[in-house]
Amino acid sequence: MKYAIIYASKAGGTEQSAKIIKDKLFFEHQVSEDDIDVIDLKKNKSIQISQYGRCILGTGIYVGKPHKLVKSFVNDNLKTLLQVPISLYICSLGTDKDNENYLKLFPKQLLEHASPISFFGGMVIFKRLNIFARLIMKSITKSKKDVHHLKHQVISDFVKEIAES
Ligand SMILES: Cc1cc2nc3c(=O)[nH]c(=O)nc-3n(C[C@H](O)[C@H](O)[C@H](O)COP(=O)(O)O)c2cc1C
Repeated sequence: MKYAIIYASKAGGTEQSAKIIKDKLFFEHQVSEDDIDVIDLKKNKSIQISQYGRCILGTGIYVGKPHKLVKSFVNDNLKTLLQVPISLYICSLGTDKDNENYLKLFPKQLLEHASPISFFGGMVIFKRLNIFARLIMKSITKSKKDVHHLKHQVISDFVKEIAES
């Protein structure tokens, strides 16, 4: 079965998560590397969804919203996405309550269809950000230091659930 990990990232967390998911599927769950495509929506938007046995979607949250490329990918392909198994991960630095609210930003049909849906925590590599994003982050974290708050156990559980489904 082929897996697609489809994401867009600004600060690094969603991208690193995509790579971790791929590594875990390969090293811990015996999925062949040839059967895992990691797709950055900044580089490739025309994806043949129906060739995959599962699509894993990943986005960060920016000023309360998902990445615009992920949002438009989901909206443009919703009908097709509902025909294959979908999983969703969200990278954010919000509280559990914030995360609940971020879910409301996705189409209800997608949320009903997707499993698992997980919040991986977040990451910020300042040098990846443009000047505006740096200013926003500085005002949120009150610091210029990179943030590494990905929840590795949550990622492991997410991948295990997918591999065992
Ligand atoms: C410009 C900017 C705005 C952000 N706004 C929010 C926010 O509103 N809520 C939140 O929980 N996290 C926020 N974050 C944290 C990101 O969701 C977190 O860094 C996540 O890892 C982003 O995904 P990415 O690293 O793949 O870009 C923000 C980060 C940046 C860079």
